[in-house]
Amino acid sequence: MTKLLVIHGPNLHLLGKREPEVYGNTTLEDINRKIKEWAGQKDVSVEIKQSNHEGEIVEIIGKAKNVFDALVINPAAYTHTSIAIRDAISAVGIPAVEVHLSNIYAREDFRHKSVIAPVCRGQVSGFKEMSYILGLEAALDLVCAK
Ligand code: DQA
Repeated sequence: MTKLLVIHGPNLHLLGKREPEVYGNTTLEDINRKIKEWAGQKDVSVEIKQSNHEGEIVEIIGKAKNVFDALVINPAAYTHTSIAIRDAISAVGIPAVEVHLSNIYAREDFRHKSVIAPVCRGQVSGFKEMSYILGLEAALDLVCAK
């Protein structure tokens, strides 16, 4: 069975309460439920992690080698700053898809740059919770095409 890892970065545990005009009213629990529903339909196993800590995210990615077939990650604010997360993705060599709820290119200038995107196979940005489902579809396709 294909095993996918989903990582939610900092502040995403606050979804639903956090800037609803940007991120919508959906909570992280709602998103995780949708992810699990999708996985059930596709017969895929999905593990979901959320962390507010850069080092913890680095450790989760580091342990993913030989365990997961692909990674779907919303690095949240670390998208724009974390060379450590970028290097971790590069180091494990697992195909990764970067996802964002909001369209980072339609927001403040500092969000236009992702330091993570170059080590990912692709990016989905701007479709609210659907970004995760599209990212999962892409990740599964990458694994099947291997
Ligand atoms: C985000 C976009 C980031 O710029 C921001 O820091 C987030 C969420 C998104 O999903 O739209 O925390 O990754």
